[in-house]
Amino acid sequence: MGRHIKIRLESRIGYVDLVHELAEGLARSAGFSKSSALNVGLAVREAVINAIKHGNGMDVRKPIEVSFEQEDDLFRVRVRDRGPGFDWAHTANPLDRENIFRTSGRGIFFMKHFVDRVAFQRRQGRGTEVVLEKRFEQAGRAGRGGEVMKRRKG
Ligand SMILES: Nc1ncnc2c1ncn2[C@@H]1O[C@H](COP(=O)(O)OP(=O)(O)OP(=O)(O)O)[C@@H](O)[C@H]1O
Ligand SMILES: [Mg+2]
Repeated sequence: MGRHIKIRLESRIGYVDLVHELAEGLARSAGFSKSSALNVGLAVREAVINAIKHGNGMDVRKPIEVSFEQEDDLFRVRVRDRGPGFDWAHTANPLDRENIFRTSGRGIFFMKHFVDRVAFQRRQGRGTEVVLEKRFEQAGRAGRGGEVMKRRKG
């Protein structure tokens, strides 16, 4: 078990950049390449915007919580809100013909491309949790070593 960082924020859109940068920075220091860390940051950004906007309905009294965990082979981020949840098994596919000109409805789709696993959990009476997981590149330690080497060169 690696380090575990947890933050709690008021539901203000102005905090989105802060969490985005933190996520990208922690992913980078965990050993991801620049482009992978960028993807982690973007996925977290989308999840945080959803938590603030759709989950907590922009109500500053409702907090969001974001936690970052590093395990042997993966980096995990949990984004929690206090909202009512939603039917995540049936979100619209932005690639469907009737949706391609819509300018919203892409956040979850992006998240799924940016990280390896996106899961939603309802927390009994306490909101929704989005779990984002990204495995370190290549199998096991060799991959992480590779990332460290890349980082040194870059
Ligand atoms: N944390 C959440 N709580 C409640 N509903 C959510 C949450 N996250 C997503 N949703 C619902 O799922 C839908 C799809 O989310 P998604 O992020 O893909 O698109 P969007 O937020 O509507 O638009 P975009 O992210 O492209 O600006 C949302 O419109 C909302 O109805
Ligand atoms: Mg969204």
